[in-house]
Amino acid sequence: MCGIVGYIGGRAATPVLVEGLHRLEYRGYDSAGVAVLRRGRITVTKTEGRVRDLRDRLAESAPSPATTGIAHTRWATHGEPSDRNAHPHLDAEGRIAVVHNGIIENAEALRAKLVADGVELVSDTDTEALAHLVAAELAGAPTLEDAVRAALRGVEGTYGLVVLDRTRPDELVVARNGSPIVLGVGDGEMFVASDVAALVHHTQRVVFLDDGELATLTAGEYRTSTLDSRRTTSKQPTTVDLVADDYELGGHSDFMRKEMAEQAEAIARALAGRLDERFATAHLGGLGLDPMALRAIKRVKFLGCGSAYYAGQMGATLVEELARIPADAEPASEFRYRNPVVDPDTLYVAISQSGETLDTLAAVQELRRKGGRVIGAVNVVGSAIARECGSGVFLHAGPEVSVASTKALTNMTVSFAMLGLLLGRVRDLSAASGQRIVAGLRALPERVARIVAEDAEIERIAKRFADARHMFFLGRVRGWPVAREGAQKLKEISYVHAEAYQAAELKHGPLALIDAEMPSVVIVPDDELLTKNIGTIEQIRARGGPVIAVTNADLPDGLADEVIRVPRGEPELDPILLTIPLQLLAYHTAKALGRDIDKPRNLAKSVTVE
Ligand code: F6R
Repeated sequence: MCGIVGYIGGRAATPVLVEGLHRLEYRGYDSAGVAVLRRGRITVTKTEGRVRDLRDRLAESAPSPATTGIAHTRWATHGEPSDRNAHPHLDAEGRIAVVHNGIIENAEALRAKLVADGVELVSDTDTEALAHLVAAELAGAPTLEDAVRAALRGVEGTYGLVVLDRTRPDELVVARNGSPIVLGVGDGEMFVASDVAALVHHTQRVVFLDDGELATLTAGEYRTSTLDSRRTTSKQPTTVDLVADDYELGGHSDFMRKEMAEQAEAIARALAGRLDERFATAHLGGLGLDPMALRAIKRVKFLGCGSAYYAGQMGATLVEELARIPADAEPASEFRYRNPVVDPDTLYVAISQSGETLDTLAAVQELRRKGGRVIGAVNVVGSAIARECGSGVFLHAGPEVSVASTKALTNMTVSFAMLGLLLGRVRDLSAASGQRIVAGLRALPERVARIVAEDAEIERIAKRFADARHMFFLGRVRGWPVAREGAQKLKEISYVHAEAYQAAELKHGPLALIDAEMPSVVIVPDDELLTKNIGTIEQIRARGGPVIAVTNADLPDGLADEVIRVPRGEPELDPILLTIPLQLLAYHTAKALGRDIDKPRNLAKSVTVE
């Protein structure tokens, strides 16, 4: 959600900043801007639209040789997307420039006070207030860092920000509270960004700031300290094992397609070193739980948002089936607001691809305040949720750039299958059943690759139904979260209205909507509910509704209008395989409708605001 880049060093800053923004565009893409500093003057160039529009605007003037600058790509929170509201923002004198991610909660009060003091505000943003506040503190502060620290004392809310002062060309000041900030340590140059994606092209040596931390960067060094006192925190750089190629399309037309194609490989990575044929179990060392502690768990609760929540629902089914302990999933965005009863015998699992989703992070913090035991299921190492949880299972899906989550969601469910197996094997799951699940997990990469290879057939089916204005997605038990995830994918990238229902609920109301214009995607695992699901298809077809069945069963000829087949596997693992064709269905529908696959309207990857 919004992207920040900053540079200080010996190179021309603008190309470095714009290239960094380009890599962060998946986090927000309604406006973009840069501010560079040269000879005591800050020059701001900004525009509504994409980073390519910013590039065009920059090309209207001669390239700047400035070697210090900051930049931003925005997903609007305060104020509509416009040139005026795009970052960076300046104070009245043009001395201070600020880029900011997050939301300042007392922005209205701060803005009103500035106006009462005679300041003329030129945007509708909360960020502009920050520029004025820092500028006001400069008179009484020996350093820019002190001015930023003093200004932030009166600020409530979340921020990751970078500040540039036209009288100090040799430094940038950055601060973090609730929105990620990472420093990139180069050779005689220093970078800052809201996401390592913008840095790995230049350096693998990074420093993740913690909440409540501030840093001053010069070309040759950085100094970190706490925001509330001036205590130095002396952070050492860590090396990330990501390279620029991880963020390149590599011959694919878009990132969603690339990431769907990478799923077999991503699953193999998640399984590597974690399956144990001999004892028919899984090893998840990152949980930090010995067999006694695993046995003491009486319940499992999964918390996540959007697709991560649906993955949690699949996880809950897996844990109940394999370990026979109660498990459920809840949207993390609801959890903290309902004053939850936190049970000491429950294992809470916070699920997040980005590790930065504010609602999920807040749920983890609420749990920790109440003494709950919470582990993370997170893709991004070093992210806020991973660090807040302290233990858990990393997803190892590799960087996910497309806003629509595919390989990370798949690896979430794969990880929960391993968690279910582990919890089951310290209870009543037999060695033979454990072996069956281990073998089923081992076979997943090849089976997933086979589904992805069915691309052309799914594309044909997607094109056949691409004109539909509404669609139902229906499933029972194992198929229900699959249906929810399928509807979610279709909605977010194709903008076709899709609703998911438990198949048996159809006859309690929504059946009234069925007609020839309302296709239904029915999830039909080859399990004990097969005849029930066949009955659902018959009910829909009897009312003239077209049906696409997604199945690993042998369905009677002519039962459905279209059948998408997936390979047979272990029934407990069916949700993993049945989800994959729904990604492709959404993808090809969106393509047929000419949508921007990786940057769907109104959305952004990683939602770091409420
Ligand atoms: C859907 C999607 C979102 C995310 C949700 C949580 O394709 O990507 O629904 O799943 O915003 O994001 P993370 O997993 O980063 O916490």
